[in-house]
Amino acid sequence: MKISIVGTGYVGLVTGTCFSDTGVNVTCVDIDEEKISKLKKGIIPIYEPGLENMIKNNVEKGRLHFTTSLKESLDQAEVIFIAVGTPPGEDGSADLSHVLNVAHEIGKHLDHTMVVVTKSTVPIGTAEKVRKAIREELEKRGVDITFYVASNPEFLKEGNAVEDFLKPDRIVVGTDSEEAEKVIRRLYKPFLLNNHPILFMDIPSAELTKYAANAMLATKISFMNDIANLCELVGADVNMVRKGIGSDSRIGNKFIYPGIGYGGSCFPKDVKAIIRTAKSYNYHLRLLQAVEDINEDQKRILVTKVKKYFNDDVKGKTFAIWGLSFKPHTDDMREAPSKVIINELMQAGAKVKAYDPVAMNEAKKEFGNTIQYGQDPYDVLIDADGLLLLTEWPEFRIPNYKVMAKLMNHKVVFDGRNIYDAAEMEEKGFDYFGIGRSLNKR
Ligand code: UDX
Repeated sequence: MKISIVGTGYVGLVTGTCFSDTGVNVTCVDIDEEKISKLKKGIIPIYEPGLENMIKNNVEKGRLHFTTSLKESLDQAEVIFIAVGTPPGEDGSADLSHVLNVAHEIGKHLDHTMVVVTKSTVPIGTAEKVRKAIREELEKRGVDITFYVASNPEFLKEGNAVEDFLKPDRIVVGTDSEEAEKVIRRLYKPFLLNNHPILFMDIPSAELTKYAANAMLATKISFMNDIANLCELVGADVNMVRKGIGSDSRIGNKFIYPGIGYGGSCFPKDVKAIIRTAKSYNYHLRLLQAVEDINEDQKRILVTKVKKYFNDDVKGKTFAIWGLSFKPHTDDMREAPSKVIINELMQAGAKVKAYDPVAMNEAKKEFGNTIQYGQDPYDVLIDADGLLLLTEWPEFRIPNYKVMAKLMNHKVVFDGRNIYDAAEMEEKGFDYFGIGRSLNKR
C-alpha cells in the first residue's frame, strides 16, 4: 500500500513514520525545502521520544520518503492525509488556508481514485470544504475522477505521540462511503490489536468528537483547579480529595491533577474553537466558557501566592523557575503557563532565572535576554528569593535539599504541580506552597 502525508509537523511526521513502520510505503510532503532536506538526512524538527530512530530505520528500509512535490507523492497513492497546520487567524479561529491550498493542489494533480483524509484539527465542516476545493479543480480540468473524503482526528499527546499512535485507545474515522471505510480499515489494521476499536461514523460526528474529547479533558482539569482553590479556603487537601473521588470508577483517576492550568497546542485552542462553533449556531456553551475562564485565572495563581508571601513587594527580587514547557517531555511552550507567570513576575519588577531540561531554546525565542538562563537546576537557585516549580519534569522530583538551602537567599518553594511532600519540605526548612493543599495551613 502506498500513501501520502502532507505536512511534516508534529502530527504528519508521527503519522507518516508510524504507518511506514508497518510496511506501508509513505511519502511525506512539505513545502519547506530546508525541513525536507534535513529530514532526508535524519535531522528532525521536533523533540518527540522514539521518533528519530524510527524515522532513520524506515528511511533506511526504503519505505519512508520525503519530498517537496505533492504531485510526486500522489503517484500510486491510495490515501492522502492532510496534516498541515491550522494556525489561529486574526479572530482566533483556525486558518484553513493551508488545508484548502493542499486540497486545491490535490485537485490539480489527481489522476486516480483516492481517499483524502483530514488529520489536522479543523473546524466542523472542513471535510466538505476540502471536497468542494478538489471538485472545483477537477471541473476546471474537465475531468471526472472518483475521490472520497474522510476525517480522522488524532488524539496524540506530545511527548508520548509515537506510543499513542502505535497503541491507540480508539481510532475515530468519519467517512462518506463504504469504499473509504474499507481502505482506511486496511491501513489501520496493524494498530487494532488488543481489541482497541476503530469507530466509523459520519464526518461531522468525527470532526466534533475531537473537540468534545479535548473539551471534556480540559473540563476535568478546570474542575479540579476550582476544587483545589476551594480546598485552600475550607482547610482541605486536594490530594486527598483527588484520591477520594478518583477511586470512583465512574469518575476515574486520570486528568484530575490540579496545577497552574492547562497549556499546549490543543486544549486552549480547541476549547475556544468549540465555543466559537457553538456561537455560530447561536448556542452558548456555558460550561466550557467557565472552563476557559478558570484556566486563565489558574495560570496566575502561583504569582498571587508569591506576592502574598512577600507582602506585595517583589520588586528587585529574583525568582528561580524550574520547568518552562507546558508539560514534561516536550520543548513545546505554546500556551505554557510559564509564559504568563514569568511575564507577571517581571511586570511586578522581579528578576527571573529559568531552567528547563529541553525547552531552553524555545524559551530564548520567547524571552530573549529579558530573563537569565541556568545551566542546570541548581545554577538558577544561586541567590534566589524563591523557587517556582512550573513543569513536573522527573529530574525535579527528588532535589538535593541541602544544596538548595545553601544556594537560595530565601528558602521558599511555590510548587505549581504538587510534586513535593509538604511535610518533608517544611522539615528541611523550606516554606512551602502547593496548589489546594491547606493541611499545612497555606
Ligand atoms: C492533549 C490531549 O491529551 C490529546 O489527546 C490531544 O490529541 C492533544 O491535546 P497534550 O496537549 O499533548 O495532549 O498534553 P496533555 O498531556 O493532555 O496535557 C495538557 C495540559 O493539561 C498540560 O498543560 C498539563 O500540564 C495539563 N494537565 C493534564 C493538568 O493540569 N492536569 C491533569 O490532570 C492533566
